[in-house]
Parts: sequence; structure tokens; C-alpha cells
Amino acid sequence: MLPWFAKVPASLRPLIFPVIAAAALILVRVSVPFPPDIDLIRLGFWTAITLVAAALPVRMPGGVHATITTAPVLAALFDTGLANPFGVCWVAFIGTFEPRDLRGEPKWYGTLFNRADWVISSYAAWLVLLVTRSAVSGGEAPAMVLQIVAAGGVFAIVNNTLGLLANSLKNQTPISRVWALSVSNIVIGIISQVPLGWLMAEIATRVGPWAVILFMVPLLLARFSFSKYTETRQLFFGSVSALSQAIDAKDGFTRGHADRVSRIAGAIAREMGLAEKEVELVELAGLLHDIGKIGVEDRILMKPARLDDAETELMRRHPIYGASILKPAEALRPLVPLVMHHHENYDGSGYPEGLSGESIPLGSRIIIVADAYEAMTSDRVYRKAIGHERAMDQLNRYKSRQFDPKVVRALDSLLTSRGVAAFEASDLPQIEYETLAELRRRLAQEPLIRDAHAG
Ligand SMILES: [Fe+2]
Repeated sequence: MLPWFAKVPASLRPLIFPVIAAAALILVRVSVPFPPDIDLIRLGFWTAITLVAAALPVRMPGGVHATITTAPVLAALFDTGLANPFGVCWVAFIGTFEPRDLRGEPKWYGTLFNRADWVISSYAAWLVLLVTRSAVSGGEAPAMVLQIVAAGGVFAIVNNTLGLLANSLKNQTPISRVWALSVSNIVIGIISQVPLGWLMAEIATRVGPWAVILFMVPLLLARFSFSKYTETRQLFFGSVSALSQAIDAKDGFTRGHADRVSRIAGAIAREMGLAEKEVELVELAGLLHDIGKIGVEDRILMKPARLDDAETELMRRHPIYGASILKPAEALRPLVPLVMHHHENYDGSGYPEGLSGESIPLGSRIIIVADAYEAMTSDRVYRKAIGHERAMDQLNRYKSRQFDPKVVRALDSLLTSRGVAAFEASDLPQIEYETLAELRRRLAQEPLIRDAHAG
């Protein structure tokens, strides 16, 4: 095997090599024989405009980079003075280079794959124009609009599907998740670039290329909306993560517990076939399930011994406190039932309402399993972790009583097929911090910095 070939991850090879080869064939096909009537200045102009657009990518949460390059590439496609498909394929190949490509951020095969993606989608869109040419020869507006929609649609579908596939393989994440995290949220922004691309080509032909510069304004607005989505999401997850850390920090025994429960619950939800939006809700509720512990007194929460009956009663109020903490925040309101019922047992013997079976929200039934599994498989101050097999034995023993058997089965098949690595796929940042209990201990040991005048 050649060394350069070996550097490409095995999971990506079946996608990357055929795509790059297809794009190379297309570039040769459109360039031989060399088209005689090429307007090189026009070609350079569209390439330059595309390069400017490509210089402003936005990294979306699923790993996909959203750019505003679609509009200028489609403008090159619709420009009748560009000797297409030669023109658009080369604009797509050269113009879409991003600064991060020069920095070597995607590996060379990633850079080549992305260029190939643009070339193939451009060529596919050009084929649509070719096939529909006779239908619009009369110049009727509806036929032309349909042609633009068809060409732009094929372009966007090919372009994004290849990108999603590559990210899904690279990150070992289901394609539905990459879609839900990235493209689904900016699909309007991508579609709006199709008519914009056609308009840019028309304006360049009828008014002059300089007028195209004006289109950078709506394009930059589209980019602004992409980056706003990412920022808002980061802000939201950052706040939820901070809240979750506040609980972990207070409950000194369980550093990172909520974070792990969230990952395990998310993986189970995905294994059970929930939609990505639902999976995200379960993950968020996993992070915040014990937020109500903020309302439990420290002497109970941090008691190193068993709780007596009165204390247990007070401790059991934490799901109610949690629900009331989350309720006022609109973005967190969908989590309220999941947090409220995360201690309901399947047979109705749980708390706070004694719900049973399917009347317990599915998210809560997942979280209680994830919570128990995590507690059994991680070390605590008062006992050691018991290991995955024994933890599964316990879950199986108490299924139908405490746990929903379907949820336990999903966790079992997840662990059998993928091992603990199944819990790693999450967008949530890894938590590294000192718990409040550790901080108290450290501050108690460190000599205090004294004021020089205090002697
Ligand atoms: Fe809890």
C-alpha cells in the first residue's frame, strides 16, 4: 500500500477516493478539448469573488463548514458568457479554497475531497441546465424559474449530501445527527443563495461585473445568520453546562456525573431510534436532571452516612425543585417533565408522583437507567465502581420493577455492539474543573495570603 494512501482513515476511503476520481475525470472531460471561446477575465472575476466568499466559513456544531460560496459558484453556472461547463467547474475547483486549507487544517485528502465535492455538484447542476435547455428556449418565465430551482436544488443536494456523508464517516456520527446539528438549521440560508446566484449572473451580464460587488451585502447577511446560530447554540450549551457543573460542584462525590449521564442517556436515546431533536432534549435533561439538588440542604446532600427517613423525604424533593428551577426559562421548559420524573420507577414505586409504565416520559425512563448505570460504573467516595457486566446484571435484575425493560435492552445492545466508546459521541465539551468540595479542601490546606501589615 502506498504511504499517502495509508494516511487516509479506512472508514473514509470508500467515499473519498471515488469522489476525488470522479471530480478529476470531470475536470479532464470539461477541459479536453480546450474550449476556444474562453473569457479569461470573466473566469478570473468569478474565481476571485468565490475566493472572497470562501474566506468567510462558519464552523457549524456538526463539524460541517457553512460558507456563502454557493451563490458565486451558481452565478458562474448561470453566466452564459463563461464557456460552461469548463468555467463553472474550474471556478468551483479553485475558488472554493479556504484559508484553513492553506493552514493544513483539513488534511490534504479533506481539502481534495471538498474541492471534488464542489466540482461534482457544479457539474451535476450544469447537466440539469443542459437537459432542460430545450424546455426554456422560448424564454417563458415559469420554465426559467423551474430550471433555476432544479439546477440550484441538485447543486445543493449533491453538495451537502457529500459533505454530510464525509463528516458522518469522519466523526463516526449518524448522518441524521450531522444533518440535525448543521445543515438543517441553515437550509434556508443555503436555498436563498440559489436565486441570489442567478441574479448575480444576470447583473454581471446586463449591468457589469462591478455591480456584483453589491451582492456581497446579502451574502454577508446570510453568513451573519449562520454565525449567529452557532453563537446562540454555544451560549445556550455553555449556560446549561455551567448550571450542570454547579450541581456537580455542590455534590462533591460525583464530579462529572451529570456529564456522563447525559452522554449515556443520549446514546441510549439514539439506539432506541429517537429523532435527533429528541436525543438532544434527553442529553440536556441528563445534564440538568439533578439541578434540584441545589435546593437540598448541604447537611443532607453532603452527609457521608446513610440518610434517615426524614432526610430521605427531603432529598426526594429534588426533582420538584429541579422542575421549578427550569420552568421559568423558555428554552429549558421542554426539559421540565423529564427532570420532574427522573426518579419514577417503572412499576409505580418511585417519586415524586408514583407514575408507572408508559405514563412516565420516555426521556425520564432513559435518564433513570443512565443515572443508575453511571453511578454503578464510577468510583464514589464510599464504594468502588462495580464494572460494566455487574452493572448490567443489576439493571437486568431490576428491569420491569425500577427500569423500563426496553431502555435496559437498548443499553445492553449498545454496549454489546459498540462498547463504552458508544458514549463518546457528543458535542458537549469535556468537563475539567475542581468540585466545590475539592476547592474547600484545597483552600483549607493552602496557607492564606496575609496582609503584610497584619504581622
Ligand atoms: Fe436525581
